[in-house]
Amino acid sequence: MIERGETAVPDEAALVADATAALAQAYAPYSRFPVGAALRARSGRVYRGANVENASLGLSICAERSAVFVAVAAGERAFEAIAIVSKAPEATPPCGACRQVLLEFGADDLVVLLATTQKAGRIERHTLGALAPHAFRRFEPGA
Ligand code: THU
Repeated sequence: MIERGETAVPDEAALVADATAALAQAYAPYSRFPVGAALRARSGRVYRGANVENASLGLSICAERSAVFVAVAAGERAFEAIAIVSKAPEATPPCGACRQVLLEFGADDLVVLLATTQKAGRIERHTLGALAPHAFRRFEPGA
């Protein structure tokens, strides 16, 4: 079931399935809150990410940012959709830091799909522009 339709992207269910598979690789012994992400580049390739925590808690990284960094390190620069899956009672939206990192490479129409294993088959759909209005995207050095 699709909720809150804005911009449809093809194969939404497949992207959510990729994020669900990524969730299994999360390293979250401290929060016990595993998250998986799957980021589809405009090239069509999909890059998975999972949260990776650290005993020095502030060094932990979210699933979304790990997916962006893997994709960018592979040469991608433009993205069309990201799926984020947790096991929480409600689907988990990306944190502010991840929204900012997505803004570096994602246009306002980047589709953000949210799902939770607790509500199998349900996909909540947003756009990056709606999640991060009035974004800081660029600056003039020295200005
Ligand atoms: N986390 C994510 O991976 N993505 C989000 O969108 C929210 C939070 C992670 C960070 C941390 O490892 C755990 O979830 C609890 O905050």
